[in-house]
Amino acid sequence: MYKIAVFVTGRGSNLKAIINSIENDMNKVEVCAVVSSKPECGAVEFSKQKGIPCFLLSNTSKDGFVDYDQLKNILFEKKIDLIVLAGFLKKIPENFIEAFEYKIINIHPALLPSFGGKGMYGINVHTAVFEKSAQISGPTVHFVDKVYDNGKIIAQKAVDISQVKTPEEIAALVLKEEHKLLPFVIKKFSENKIEIKNNRVYIN
Ligand code: GRF
Repeated sequence: MYKIAVFVTGRGSNLKAIINSIENDMNKVEVCAVVSSKPECGAVEFSKQKGIPCFLLSNTSKDGFVDYDQLKNILFEKKIDLIVLAGFLKKIPENFIEAFEYKIINIHPALLPSFGGKGMYGINVHTAVFEKSAQISGPTVHFVDKVYDNGKIIAQKAVDISQVKTPEEIAALVLKEEHKLLPFVIKKFSENKIEIKNNRVYIN
């Protein structure tokens, strides 16, 4: 089995899309852990319903939560192949990122390297895209390194937004594509079809 951990903070629609794909056409992939920085959110509820082990994460040690060092050990013990950030809003400490080099990916709801970085999350991203009058947007799946939204890009999908009237419309169009792109990339990882060559990422 190809073992993944999914990090979440909010409603969890990408987590649901991953689980749906696993149930339909990705049966070599297993979500072995859901990690959340927020105890009560849609994603945590959903993982409980599905019986997936769920870990609450905090920067400092407190009851009912694990800290990053504890989490690192848990994920090592579970022999996690890939960490997927699906709407995870907290900055991850550098030593955690170093421990999982090229094993952490993130989905961002715009076409990086534009509209990324600190503060660029949720509707802020789509408002910036809308106000710049960008004519295309779309999700980006990228490796996570020590700088926000900076790691090498793995996959993107362009969406025509030339006729939208609001940032919310962009959000909905992009989210629909996120739900396809993220499971697609995870499947490719599980098939060992993601390759870094010539300083670029190739999907074979
Ligand atoms: C998505 O738009 C994702 O691109 C971003 O956070 C949002 C999470 O949505 N990183 P959900 O919790 O998966 O519904």
